This record gives sequence, structure tokens and C-alpha cells, in this order.
Amino acid sequence: MTEIARGLEGINVTATKLCRIDGLKGELIYSGYNIYDLAEKSSFEEVAFLLWNQRLPNKQELDDLKAFLNKERPLDGVVERLIRELWPHVRPMRTLEIAVEVIGAIDPDSSDLTQPTLRKTAARLTAKMATVIAAYDRLRNGKEPVAPRDDLGHAANFLWMLTGEEPTELAKHVMDVAFILHAEHEMNASTFSAMVTGSTLSDMYSSIASAIGTLKGPLHGGANEAVFKTVDAIKEEKNIAPHVEALLGRGERVMGIGHRIYKTTDPRAVILERLGHQVAETSPDRWYFDLSLKLRDYLARKLEGKPLYPNVDFFSASVYRMLGIKSDLYTPIFALARITGWTAHLLEQYADNRLVRPNALYEGAANREYTPIANR
Ligand code: ACO
Repeated sequence: MTEIARGLEGINVTATKLCRIDGLKGELIYSGYNIYDLAEKSSFEEVAFLLWNQRLPNKQELDDLKAFLNKERPLDGVVERLIRELWPHVRPMRTLEIAVEVIGAIDPDSSDLTQPTLRKTAARLTAKMATVIAAYDRLRNGKEPVAPRDDLGHAANFLWMLTGEEPTELAKHVMDVAFILHAEHEMNASTFSAMVTGSTLSDMYSSIASAIGTLKGPLHGGANEAVFKTVDAIKEEKNIAPHVEALLGRGERVMGIGHRIYKTTDPRAVILERLGHQVAETSPDRWYFDLSLKLRDYLARKLEGKPLYPNVDFFSASVYRMLGIKSDLYTPIFALARITGWTAHLLEQYADNRLVRPNALYEGAANREYTPIANR
């Protein structure tokens, strides 16, 4: 084979029952359900169950999952102490990566790769990762972590643990939908990373730590924080054109724009934009959302004819900003949702494993004679 699939573009690395994307139509389907339906009618917990089981839960199954998440949400002492040590030195995504490894290190069943244990691990990580990020943010603000509440859903609990204040109904809804939108996305870079690690039969915790490290990069999940920085730097409508021209002139990319699969607007961006309009009605930070809309319109004219449209990260930045969330938590929030998709793919991977081991085409020197160091 002499062909190289750079970036593995167009290559099927596995089959999945979890997610189908039509990048030309802008369709995103989780196990047969359209993302628009799930965003409107479902909850994050239902979507988590769907991804782990490829069917929606009945009432009892949903209650059982919620009860398990409630039980698992508190952190073990060693993890909380670790966060207290880490926050002054370590950014949130890396804290999450380290915390996941430590949660795995103290789980006596971490190397049990049977499906029932893996399912528990998936739900445990979903529960605990939100608590890790909330505790991190509280501690760096000089506040004590807030205990989770059993009467709140997962997204609402995250907001509660972050602020210690009762979230509004709108904030709860928006965070729940944001979690649903970020839960799964077929074979993206971080999911592939989890799959590669899992394919060696390393455990689920290490596979997820790999995925978190991959999501961090600005070409993937890190783009939402980068969008925040772009819009923040632009500040006023009159600066949009010079800012974008200078950026493109330097050969740089506009963050939150473009996608390997979508060659039309990402449906998740459509839904987040709608939510953005609702949040903007009462937000003191609506200028930021309004400026994002103007930037979007400017880019649509500027990039006309090219398949470059807003992706999920473009509007998540303004929605989170209007909810009062700090920009370096945007990518961790992505991870708090995507943990469900990552673990669902790992369930598929472990059930039918084959080591991921592609080739590289050698193009280095051939048949060289070894020169002893004294002669070099
Ligand atoms: N701004 C300006 N130009 C762009 C952008 C962008 N955001 N994205 C792609 N292009 C241009 C490239 O410069 C290239 O132009 P050329 O053919 O004239 O050289 C062309 O579009 C194709 O680019 P590729 O890099 O081949 O496209 P690819 O499919 O690899 O890119 C990617 C996908 C990495 C997401 C890209 O669009 C990008 O860098 N976007 C900005 C980062 C971003 O928002 N990432 C989040 C993606 S969503 C997610 O991961 C959750």
C-alpha cells in the first residue's frame, strides 16, 4: 500500500450503532434519534442511557440511572485532596485528565473489562467528572466545594455545585441541552483516541484520560475557548473586518468555523444559536452573543463558496459566557458531556476488540552503514 490517508479522512475504522452524521444535510442521529428531537424532548440522563444501551430507558431504568449517578457524584477524599493540590498549578482540562486516572487508580475493579463493570465505570465517570470540575472552580475562587443534591438532574447539579446557587429553569434547560448536544459525535479525534487506548485492553479510565488529552487541542474541543478569546478580542462590530482580515492574512483559522464532516452548518450550532437568543433576553453579557452573530454573518459573506460554517464550538462559547461560566471551563464542559459517547464507544470496542495498529509508509534513508561514534 502506497497511499496515505492523512488525518484518516474518509476511512471507516470501525462500525458503530451509536451515531450517524450526514455532513451535507447537516443531520446528526444518536442511535436512530434525530438530535433536534433529543434536544427538545429528552434529558441528558436519557441520552446517556440511550448511548450505553441503544434504546431509550423506561421510567424505572431512568430512575435507577439517576440514583446511581446520585450515589457516585461525591468525590473520594483522595480525589478532592488532589484537586486542592492541583488547582494553583494545573489548568482544568489537565486536572480532569489526572483526576480520571486517580479515580481509576482507587477503583479495585478498574481492570475488570466485562460489560456490567464497564457500564458502572461509564456512569461513575459521568457522575464524578462534573463534581471534579465544579470543585476545581470553587477552590480556585477561594470557596469550598458544594455537595451535590439528589433532587437535581445532572446538568442542574453541575451548575449548583459550580455556583452554590439555585440555577434558573432556563439555565438548567440550556445546560441540559448543551450536554445532550455534546454527548456523542461518531469517530471524532478524542473518541478515536479512547478507542486506540481501549484496543490495547488498557482500562476504561486510561482510555478516557487519553480522550480528554485529545479533546483539549484547539482544533477539537479546545476551539470553544478559542472562540471566546476571538470574540473578546474583537470587542466591537467595527473591529470584526480588520480582525478577521489580519487573522486570515497570517494564515490562521477562525475558531468555531469549519468541520471535517459538516459541509453545512452544524445542527448543534443551530440549536445553540436558538438557545442563545433565549438566554440573551435576560443576560447582562448579551453584547457578546450579538457580536458573535455579527461575526458569523461577516464570515458567511467572507467565506462564501467555501464549505466553512459555524460548528458546535462557535455558539457554545457565547451561551456559556451568558450563563456566567469562565472560559477555561468550556472545553471541560464538553468533556463532561462527551464522557457518555466515549464510554459508549468503548463498550462497543471492548465487546468486539481488535488492536488498532495501522502502518506508516517509510520514506527515510535506506541501507546505511553504521559509523562508530569515534568516526562521526
Ligand atoms: N478558518 C479559515 N479557513 C479554514 C478554517 C477556518 N476555521 N477551517 C478550514 N479552513 C480552510 C483551510 O485553510 C483549507 O484551505 P485551503 O484548501 O485553501 O488550504 C480548507 O479550509 C480545508 O481545511 P482542512 O484543514 O483540510 O480541513 P479539515 O477538514 O482538516 O478541518 C477543522 C477541520 C480542523 C475543524 C478546521 O475546519 C479548523 O481548523 N477549524 C477551526 C477549529 C475548530 O473550530 N475546531 C472545532 C471543530 S468541531 C469539534 O471538534 C467539536
